[in-house]
Amino acid sequence: MLWLKAWHVIFMVTWFAGLFYLPRLFVYHADATDDISHARFVIMERKLFIIMTIGAVLTAIFGIWMLADYAWAAWHGSVWLMAKLVLVGALLVYHLYCLKIMREFRAGTAHHSHVFYRWINEIPALLLVAIVLLVVAKPF
Ligand code: HEM
Repeated sequence: MLWLKAWHVIFMVTWFAGLFYLPRLFVYHADATDDISHARFVIMERKLFIIMTIGAVLTAIFGIWMLADYAWAAWHGSVWLMAKLVLVGALLVYHLYCLKIMREFRAGTAHHSHVFYRWINEIPALLLVAIVLLVVAKPF
C-alpha cells in the first residue's frame, strides 16, 4: 500500500506543476500582442494541459485504489477524509475552469487582464496546503 501512496504523491506533484504554471502562461498570454506569440502560447498551454490532466487522472486512480484497498474501511467516518475529497472536487472544478480559459485564449475571446490570472493562481496553492494538512495530520 505504500507503493500506491508513493505513486499517488508522484502524480499529484505532476498535476500541481501544471496547475501552478498554466495560469502563469495565461498571464504572459494576456500581455502578448503579436500573432506568433499568441500561436506559441496556444501550443504551450495545450501541451501543458494534456500533461497535467494525465497527472490528475493518475492521482485519482491511485487515490481511489488506496480507498478501495484499505483507506475507506479505516476512515470512512472521518471528517478529514470527507473534507479532503470535497477539496479535491474543488480542485477538479479549477482544473476544468483552466480548460475553459485556455479555449477562450485559443478562440481569441479571453477578456481578463493579466492581474486576474495572477490572482486565480493562488487558488491551487491554498487547496494544496489545506489538502496536505488534512491528509497528513488527520486533525479531525
Ligand atoms: C481523487 C482524488 C484523491 C483521492 C481519492 C485520494 C485519496 C487518498 C488516500 C486514500 C490516501 C491514503 C491516506 C493514508 O493512508 O493516510 C491519500 C494520501 C495522500 N494524498 Fe490523496 N487523494 C486524492 C487526491 C489528492 C490530492 C489532489 C492531493 C494533493 C493536493 C493529495 C495528497 C495526498 C498526500 C500528500 C497523501 C499522503 C499522506 C500521508 O501519507 O500522510 N491527494 N490520498
